[in-house]
Amino acid sequence: MEMVIYMKEIVIATKNKHKIEEMKAVLIPIGYDVLSLFDFDEFPEIIEDQDSFKGNAMKKAKELSDYLNKTVISDDSGLEVEALEGAPGIFSARYAGDNASYEDNNELLLLSMKHKENRTARFVTSLCVYFRDKEPIFIEQYLYGSIAKDYKGANGFGYDPIFIVKEDGRRLAEYTMEEKNAISHRGKCLKELIPILENIK
Ligand code: IMP
Repeated sequence: MEMVIYMKEIVIATKNKHKIEEMKAVLIPIGYDVLSLFDFDEFPEIIEDQDSFKGNAMKKAKELSDYLNKTVISDDSGLEVEALEGAPGIFSARYAGDNASYEDNNELLLLSMKHKENRTARFVTSLCVYFRDKEPIFIEQYLYGSIAKDYKGANGFGYDPIFIVKEDGRRLAEYTMEEKNAISHRGKCLKELIPILENIK
């Protein structure tokens, strides 16, 4: 008798290798066959033009899901600084301009915060799973901390060297990848997602 093993398929709506690895590590052990935008090179770039993390996550997942007729997972993240009324927020990747490097963005943020006493900030991740035959799943998670006045640490990416984690006062760039995944905005979204996906038939 021939055995048919049914694999659930999910497409990650990104070409960011770090995100793909992080999501695969969660999705493969619970039985998913995981694809990403690298498998669909012809798909045009998705314009992130919504006014919230949730809106952008939903737009990316829905557009790709409609195009491929498959389940799609996407996320949108960024840094919100209280003294800057939530900036850089949804513009975190291009705070210092369209082709800004991580260093450009960090420099501008340190400058914008130069005379600010309130340095409270948080990272946000909004995650969306868009299905063909079910209501979408939305999860939002945060990592709380504050903005430093200098750089420290060599790990991670983006704003990690200037972000002081509230829990222990270390910079996020001083965390190992495993340590960061355990507490990060994106890591917590993925952890919350596992039991929800496991319960979906
Ligand atoms: P994305 O939507 O996840 O690609 O994130 C947009 C931008 O937010 C990135 O380019 C980074 O500047 C910033 N960002 C998001 N997550 C992190 C993080 O974990 N550490 C540092 N910066 C982050």
